[in-house]
Amino acid sequence: MKYFIFLIPILYWGCSGSSHTGEKAEDVEPSMENVALKQGNRISSQAQQALGSQLMKMINSEGPVAAVEFCNLAAYPILDSLDIDLDVKIKRASIKTRNPGNKADAVEEKIIRSYQQLLAKEKSLTPVVEALGKEELLYAAPIQTKNKMCLNCHGAVSNEISEATLAKIQDLYPGDNAKGHKVGDLRGIWSITFKKEELLKLQMDDNAALDVNDGLSLVKQNCYSCHSPNSASHDHIIAPPLEAVKRRYLRAADDDKRAFVSKMSRFLMDPSEQSALMKGPVRRFGVMPKFNWSEETIAKMVEYMYDHELEQPDWFEQHHREGHH
Ligand code: HEC
Ligand code: HEC
Repeated sequence: MKYFIFLIPILYWGCSGSSHTGEKAEDVEPSMENVALKQGNRISSQAQQALGSQLMKMINSEGPVAAVEFCNLAAYPILDSLDIDLDVKIKRASIKTRNPGNKADAVEEKIIRSYQQLLAKEKSLTPVVEALGKEELLYAAPIQTKNKMCLNCHGAVSNEISEATLAKIQDLYPGDNAKGHKVGDLRGIWSITFKKEELLKLQMDDNAALDVNDGLSLVKQNCYSCHSPNSASHDHIIAPPLEAVKRRYLRAADDDKRAFVSKMSRFLMDPSEQSALMKGPVRRFGVMPKFNWSEETIAKMVEYMYDHELEQPDWFEQHHREGHH
């Protein structure tokens, strides 16, 4: 008996410590880890949402029996609906599976076991990133039976899973091993494998998109209250549409970006009647008030205005063609 107790920890560490190749795990560079976490979180939460809302919809409209076929990841074009065009492998892995195709491999199993240990100590579970050799990263995030809805199909046979649902599950998954869960149990993990070079591409696309959105949301937030693109007519406005302002500054800058940015930034730092180019609007509305935007914020907004087409009111082109510049 003594002998036994002594052996258990050794066996245990023996299992959880080795990776599938038996090599020592590579370290993940912190920057890559961050990128993988960010992209993994995004993809897994989108996938989770797609799956969860479909399940809920099916259960509400057709009942759990019919919904049984909809907890299958392959049942949805989930990856199609995520706006990524890269080669990522996405999977839900578990040790006790319903579909044997979701069986965790050695690396996934190691992660699941460490989550189980944390859960036993009532710690919260957070996503992790592991290196798979030199080229790939594995992102993993816990999947818990967070709500009662899951127990319709993963709960207790006696009272939570109905007979009809059980029959359907047994029929489709004869070797089912995914019942008897309580709310809060670990059911498995999201497992997403990224190629490192693809991950960097994804991050760069994101950065580009972010800058544009940043500029646009800054403009919306700071300028639309007066320079609204949704004004009903020229008589309703309290400031010229931004598109009119842009055209005036493009003219003054001979379309040159640097000149455009510097002229408009200078005005925004300190608007005054003398420096205003648009004498008509100054007469009609008074000079634009001074705000305390940082130089950086101004640069982002002004560059956005130069680089992108701006929303304009419906009446604007007509008005512009009639020569009211
Ligand atoms: C309507 C029945 C039903 C409901 C409700 C349901 N599942 Fe499932 N679940 C299944 C079926 C069926 C499978 C097997 C899918 C497959 O073929 O990949 C499955 C598989 C899974 C898997 C993949 C691992 C495995 O065992 O094959 C996870 C993880 C999972 N479910 C988690 C959840 C969670 C979390 C909830 C609640 C948010 C939930 N399920 C709700 C029926 C259901
Ligand atoms: C509180 C109202 C208000 C807000 C907010 C506002 N503006 Fe203006 N803006 C005006 C008015 C009124 C004019 C027309 C009078 C003038 O030219 O100064 C004007 C004119 C301008 C001009 C033309 C200046 C010139 O040379 O005559 C620029 C450029 C401009 N706005 C940019 C912006 C940008 C960019 C934002 C957001 C970051 C913004 N404005 C926010 C009221 C506003």
